Amino acid sequence: MHTSTILALLAIPNALAAPPLSQEISIRNAELAQGLTRREYQEAAIRSLGDKSYAPYKVDCPSGWTWIRNATEGLAQGEKDFLTKRQSKTSPAVNTMASSHGIPNPPRTPTIGVALAGGGYRAMLTGLGGIMGMMNQSSEGSASGIGGWLDGVTYWAGLSGGSWATGSFMANGGTLPSDLLANLWNLDSNLIFPEDGKLSFYTSLATEVNAKSDAGFPTQITDLWGLAIASHVLPTQYQLSNTPNLTFSQLPSVVQQLGDADLPMPIIIAAEREAGELVVAENATVWEFTPYEFGSWAFGSVVKSIGAFTNMEYLGSELNNGSPNGSCYKGFDQLSYVMGTSATLFNSALLQINGTDTGLVTGLIEGFLQDLGEDQLDISRVPNSFANYNSGENPIADLEYITLVDAGETNQNIPIEPLLIPFREVDAIIAFDSSFDSTYTWPNGTALRTTFERAKILAENTGTEIRMPEVPSENGFINGGYNTRPTFFGCNDTTTPLIVYVPNYPWSGAANTSTYQLSYTDAEAQTVLYNGMRSLTLNGSIETWPTCFACALTDRSFGYTRENRTAECQSCLDTWCWAGDDNTTTPNTYDPVIGSVPPWLVSKGLTSNGSSGPTDAKGVNNTATQNTNTSSGTVRVGKMGMGLLSGMMGGLLLGSLV
Ligand SMILES: *[C@@H]1O[C@H](CO)[C@@H](O)[C@H](O)[C@H]1NC(C)=O
Ligand SMILES: *[C@@H]1O[C@H](CO)[C@@H](O)[C@H](O)[C@H]1NC(C)=O
Ligand SMILES: *[C@@H]1O[C@H](CO)[C@@H](O)[C@H](O)[C@H]1NC(C)=O
Ligand SMILES: *[C@@H]1O[C@H](CO)[C@@H](O)[C@H](O)[C@H]1NC(C)=O
Ligand SMILES: *[C@@H]1O[C@H](CO)[C@@H](O)[C@H](O)[C@H]1NC(C)=O
Ligand SMILES: *[C@@H]1O[C@H](CO)[C@@H](O)[C@H](O)[C@H]1NC(C)=O
Ligand SMILES: *[C@@H]1O[C@H](CO)[C@@H](O)[C@H](O)[C@H]1NC(C)=O
Ligand SMILES: *[C@@H]1O[C@H](CO)[C@@H](O)[C@H](O)[C@H]1NC(C)=O
Ligand SMILES: *[C@@H]1O[C@H](CO)[C@@H](O)[C@H](O)[C@H]1NC(C)=O
Ligand SMILES: *[C@@H]1O[C@H](CO)[C@@H](O)[C@H](O)[C@H]1NC(C)=O
Ligand SMILES: *[C@@H]1O[C@H](CO)[C@@H](O)[C@H](O)[C@H]1NC(C)=O
Ligand SMILES: *[C@@H]1O[C@H](CO)[C@@H](O)[C@H](O)[C@H]1NC(C)=O
Repeated sequence: MHTSTILALLAIPNALAAPPLSQEISIRNAELAQGLTRREYQEAAIRSLGDKSYAPYKVDCPSGWTWIRNATEGLAQGEKDFLTKRQSKTSPAVNTMASSHGIPNPPRTPTIGVALAGGGYRAMLTGLGGIMGMMNQSSEGSASGIGGWLDGVTYWAGLSGGSWATGSFMANGGTLPSDLLANLWNLDSNLIFPEDGKLSFYTSLATEVNAKSDAGFPTQITDLWGLAIASHVLPTQYQLSNTPNLTFSQLPSVVQQLGDADLPMPIIIAAEREAGELVVAENATVWEFTPYEFGSWAFGSVVKSIGAFTNMEYLGSELNNGSPNGSCYKGFDQLSYVMGTSATLFNSALLQINGTDTGLVTGLIEGFLQDLGEDQLDISRVPNSFANYNSGENPIADLEYITLVDAGETNQNIPIEPLLIPFREVDAIIAFDSSFDSTYTWPNGTALRTTFERAKILAENTGTEIRMPEVPSENGFINGGYNTRPTFFGCNDTTTPLIVYVPNYPWSGAANTSTYQLSYTDAEAQTVLYNGMRSLTLNGSIETWPTCFACALTDRSFGYTRENRTAECQSCLDTWCWAGDDNTTTPNTYDPVIGSVPPWLVSKGLTSNGSSGPTDAKGVNNTATQNTNTSSGTVRVGKMGMGLLSGMMGGLLLGSLV
């Protein structure tokens, strides 16, 4: 039977009552007579048809190699090889960008990382807007003096919505985000209620996820959710209508720009939470997915032990104490699944689906609910490659699965931790923050503060080092205006990277859309994207900013101290560094004016025209027309209202997250 026939049957509720039209239908009636329910029959029929390329598949186990690598060994060989190639690209780019601001070539090339926070489509768009500001190919980014820096970036970390940005940008070979918006993304089609092709969308979702389950792997709402995201932001050939089989480990071979190290190395993170555990930022285990490996630098929640890594390509293979003990698999590390896992907070969005088209998916979800229990809806399970590895010391040695959640659930919503790992020797981090912290969905610095608190506790209690500089409390962030404009942290502390914190600020539009807005018109998406860019470029309106940004990114590689820094760069640091103040008084509700210049910049006399109203950016055609009727502050809430969701998620800490 053709898929289309089955689809047609499913679409007509009383098709089953019609007389047999073909042999297949006779068979079906026979099965019905055997007592199968309509849904069971549908499932059986669909299971045998259609694309199943999402499912992991058995391969011969490679012999004579190491399956598990001790984290004390440092970086993966694949990562080291990548870094060598990447440095030949970043080195000339850094020199070009530095010299265009009168800065000499640094004595060594700095290792620069970017980190994109979580927050659904808002975070994806804001983060990619910031990235676009760093791209030479963007006329506005380039005119602002910031465009070109992306070529100097070595690492790119993403979390939740920031991981969708990571996956979409990488899989599309580094295409300019405004072109992705114009030519590929279909954000106007709701993530879980697509407007057209509904039936085949849901049928394909169910077929792919059932195929993974049939291959013997745990499945959960995350699989459905990840495939749905992928079908909106990955290249068309990897969407549900084709073969959704792009794995993370394959990225460098499938995407030439990544293979040639013309793009930064992607890292996507998630946090571990086993059944019944209460995990907070201080004791969560942070897991990394890279094209080379899956693993963590430190295992365990309360008691930490040295972590380990396993090969990404063979993730899902059955290992016992670091050796194959059963079958080996490839294809588990689907990019869609990794993006879904990093954003498992959104799983409950799928609980909303209901209707004739969605029966198969609803059936699957009911199964997950029974298997997992409602408090485990937001988890994603990875077969534990570290079973019996280093037993006695390894706190996860007994687990069958590693149970992952959205790392934003621990409030550590900017994925800077991978960039603070001593082995990576990162010099500067550009941290894009589009968290939903304050009443009006703007960031308040909690994400960085949480990582700072975690770093202190890890170092004191477990001896695990992450190189996090001090930052103020969230009240201190708001009172100091540090959440309105880029702020440098770690200026005096040469043992850590220097962090350039870039908060989402309403330079040109109401980019504080709800985390749960699951569809955007092109105009809305453009508003959030361009506002994200301007949060970094400062709309091209602050004359000294491009030079100061260049000073920050190269400071560590000059080994500068207050004594020998150039006067110009010292003046930049005096202006943009956190001064060390922390006014912990409870601030008034943070409610920035849409389309304004941050008051801090005005009070410092940094704006060229001294105005606090919207300024025209260099190279911008016309800020107003690019943001057609979007500065009004009206935000269209998707089909899923926030209230309903919060109710459903009950105790899951929702309001404060991502
Ligand atoms: C940006 O592009 C222009 C024109 O293609 C080129 O001259 C310039 O060197 C590029 N800058 C960087 C940093 O790559
Ligand atoms: C994806 O699946 C299709 C169809 O099975 C296959 O032809 C293709 O080689 C697969 N692509 C990758 C990257 O594995
Ligand atoms: C993590 O820390 C919190 C607070 O410190 C504690 O309540 C919780 O029990 C810890 N979780 C585990 C798994 O130990
Ligand atoms: C290893 O394989 C044996 C035999 O199939 C099985 O009994 C045992 O449970 C497996 N161990 C692990 C850790 O999977
Ligand atoms: C789904 O539909 C059924 C029947 O129409 C209804 O009883 C139920 O409340 C709906 N569920 C949701 C979450 O809308
Ligand atoms: C990892 O390496 C450290 C230091 O070399 C060593 O103490 C530890 O025993 C190793 N762990 C395993 C499981 O090999
Ligand atoms: C800052 O954000 C956190 C977490 O999102 C929230 O709990 C807190 O109330 C916020 N504080 C202020 C002063 O906005
Ligand atoms: C967006 O921000 C503006 C200004 O802070 C505020 O008036 C508006 O209510 C916010 N919208 C949302 C959805 O939080
Ligand atoms: C600045 O001084 C520090 C400390 O003496 C030194 O390590 C560094 O190399 C100097 N940098 C330059 C560019 O002179
Ligand atoms: C860094 O040093 C300068 C000069 O000594 C000082 O004014 C500033 O407060 C320090 N910053 C921090 C964060 O401690
Ligand atoms: C501290 O913050 C409060 C609340 O925003 C403000 O009223 C007060 O002026 C601030 N204090 C100083 C010394 O800046
Ligand atoms: C201005 O807009 C035109 C047409 O939309 C476009 O071709 C041109 O590249 C834009 N210029 C800049 C500087 O963005």
